[in-house]
Amino acid sequence: MKKSLNILFVASEVVPFAKTGGLADVSGVLPKALKRLGHNPIVVMPRYYSIDKSKLDLVPGAMGVPMGPMGELWVGVYTTTLPNSKVPIYFIDYEEFYGRSGLYADENGESYSDNDNRFVLLSKAAFQLAKKLDFYVDIIHANDWHTASMPLLKKTRFKYDEHFANSSTILTIHNMQHQGFFFKGIIDVMEVGWEHFNPLDLESMDGVNMLKGGVTHADAVTTVSKRYAQELQTAEFAFGLQDHMWAHRGKLFGILNGVDYEEWSPAIDKYISFRFDTEYMSGKQKCKDDLRDMFGLPRWEVPLIGFVGRFAEQKGIEMIAAVIEGLIHLDVQFVFLGTGEKWAEEFFSDMAARYPEKFALYVGYDNALSHQIEAGSDMFLMPSLFEPCGLNQIYSLRYGTLPIVRATGGLDDTIENYDPVHNSGTGFKFELPTHDALYHTVKWAIDVWKYEPEAFREMQKRAMKARYSWEEAAKGYEAVYYWTLNNREVNNYR
Ligand code: ADP
Ligand code: GLC
Repeated sequence: MKKSLNILFVASEVVPFAKTGGLADVSGVLPKALKRLGHNPIVVMPRYYSIDKSKLDLVPGAMGVPMGPMGELWVGVYTTTLPNSKVPIYFIDYEEFYGRSGLYADENGESYSDNDNRFVLLSKAAFQLAKKLDFYVDIIHANDWHTASMPLLKKTRFKYDEHFANSSTILTIHNMQHQGFFFKGIIDVMEVGWEHFNPLDLESMDGVNMLKGGVTHADAVTTVSKRYAQELQTAEFAFGLQDHMWAHRGKLFGILNGVDYEEWSPAIDKYISFRFDTEYMSGKQKCKDDLRDMFGLPRWEVPLIGFVGRFAEQKGIEMIAAVIEGLIHLDVQFVFLGTGEKWAEEFFSDMAARYPEKFALYVGYDNALSHQIEAGSDMFLMPSLFEPCGLNQIYSLRYGTLPIVRATGGLDDTIENYDPVHNSGTGFKFELPTHDALYHTVKWAIDVWKYEPEAFREMQKRAMKARYSWEEAAKGYEAVYYWTLNNREVNNYR
């Protein structure tokens, strides 16, 4: 019989409590899938200002967290469960660090200068909490740079604590672009010892690189698609850590994210006005008309292409900006939802003002609208320069909204290119991140919609039948967890 595992899952954002991107989706759903496999996860995150304390239960007694020269910080702990589950989630409450409007940055996009302290506090508080709850941990699962200090903390600061004596550590990299690079003084706050300040470990260009240290010390490192696990070992994708990742490739695994189909299914979606599925597709056309009415786009006989995402370089927005003016003159309409880099917000607002019948835009973050765009569009644009996994293209599949993607990371692993000869595929893909490739792939998609409607409809049905379930993903993590436990002897000597 397989052993049921006690899992300490720590992340800086978790749906539905706080979200800036896909990390929150994963952290809110994966622990529930692990629970369904018979494990015992608990989740830990900060109690940001936006999270209403009055809806949570207070865990009695303040908790001390040792922070080196800062002394012991006394934090509060609140708790509830993840929605529709029995998985407990704990919130670390420390007003001075987390009582701000943003998660990582202020209104102007400036990262908080004490992010190192803020997230070392979260990482250490998670250990202290396990002690307080008398939770004997089998698996410490850290995510991204914010909690990447946990593997090393387990080997040093918490080495002799019985709650962690039998635990192994997993670090999941959701995005290599953000590594957590700080002034080296943070080593004293971590209390891990200056012997770890060397280039094979925490050190990078005389500073501390949190993610690098996490990769060194974790018993296993995972990332969110197989293709990205390969890409992380190359200069194009690793933001300087390619050699480090290559050196640690023996414990690097790619596990594709899943989708919460209770949230993202056109047959039951509570945000859309007309439901549909493979057997009754007429609702999709109605969703399209609805969406166009909402933005004042005329109901022409042309395809509607949607975009939902952060306006960030990663998402290929510079390429989009370069070709959109050319595309707008084709028979097509666009609807964009996003927020982020100011130049992009201004540029796309300008497009919307100049082409009100062809280009619609909402600048901001709006979950309901993101569902409506998934449902009402014919194609979904996601030409990312890199994409560790990507969730929106997988949501799009379920809504029969054919993704137009660049073949990178999770986009490549989840979307199969249209092949008219074999009548196969679920979307439109291109390889090189060039303006030409993007322009012609979008044009190709528009042409297939227009001139090969039957093939387009069949492709929609194939896309809607594809499944990327969290159960599959959770089984992948489970396998890695057991692997680390079975290899602990080896790992101890790494
Ligand atoms: P990333 O984490 O890199 O931003 P993902 O595709 O993994 O990319 O996840 C993005 C998530 O955030 C998706 O759930 C997407 O629907 C959501 N999202 C991004 N921007 C917006 C927005 N402006 N409004 C609503 N949802 C958004
Ligand atoms: C990151 C990546 C995205 C991935 C998400 C969840 O934000 O950019 O591709 O889907 O994490 O793993």
